[in-house]
Amino acid sequence: MSKGSTKRLSIIGAGAVGTSAAQWSVQRQIADEIILYDVVEGLPQGKALDISQTAPLNGFAGTISGTNDFSQTADSDVVIITAGLARKPGMSRDDLLDKNVQIVKAISEQAAAYSPESCLIVVTNPIDAMVYTAFKVSGFPRQRVIGMAGVLDSARYRLLLAKALGVAPGDVTALVMGIHGDNMLPMVRLANVNGVPVTELLDQATIDEIVKKTQYGGAEIVQHLKTGSAFTTPGLAAVEMAEAILKDSRRVMPCAAYLEGEFGISGLFMGVPVVLGSRGVEKILEFPLTEGEKAALELSVQAVRKQMEATGL
Ligand code: 2OP
Repeated sequence: MSKGSTKRLSIIGAGAVGTSAAQWSVQRQIADEIILYDVVEGLPQGKALDISQTAPLNGFAGTISGTNDFSQTADSDVVIITAGLARKPGMSRDDLLDKNVQIVKAISEQAAAYSPESCLIVVTNPIDAMVYTAFKVSGFPRQRVIGMAGVLDSARYRLLLAKALGVAPGDVTALVMGIHGDNMLPMVRLANVNGVPVTELLDQATIDEIVKKTQYGGAEIVQHLKTGSAFTTPGLAAVEMAEAILKDSRRVMPCAAYLEGEFGISGLFMGVPVVLGSRGVEKILEFPLTEGEKAALELSVQAVRKQMEATGL
């Protein structure tokens, strides 16, 4: 942890997601010092300078700097890893695995060396395999290595439900579990609008369509953009997680956490509801699944195991 009460956040990768995370974290003032790192000379410096210049307009001190020197990230409380290639149309998240595993390996080694007490939030795709890579390489306890996916997927799910219901998106509580991929599991029976179950408000066909649209939410954006994938909400989702850790707020979010028996699953990262606090994953909120949910989650387990094997770790 950083000295005293000063909170340090490092964001690795000044691409689209890293830049979005940098912007949101400055805007939300979640850390005293924010460092944006990238290997490309000038890129993080230029982006950080640009973001810092929002300070007079936004009414806060822009405490962000850019660097190509990893040692500048030392003693971070949280390290958000976004570096890696993004999807192009027709590519699955799995297609990125071979390249990104090398990148995440190198970054995790450095992050562990320079910020040995930090929490790592992994955003690079395919997330469930990349967070496993960071876990293996860093040697950190499972509480301090967390994958970002569920917050993003749940935001998509909540927005689709809100639109179908004609209600404020913030009033929809809904959870996506499992892999960050086609087999992700938007939980239907738990989705509600300020306590009212959506199953009482929407017909099955509408719910089925929303579930499908959620599962392909990322691919839909790739189809439109053609040159990359979503970045605004992925960046914010990572920042929400970082904020909960830096402020020890114990917020409950769906995150990729390493399971050791929870939900009957062991030895892999999987999206589950967790309590986030200063030690990272303070607790996994485990609850009984229906037979149908268990079967659906098993598809995620198989897909994640395949990804893990492909990392060669
Ligand atoms: C997405 O779902 C980038 O995987 C990310 O948009």
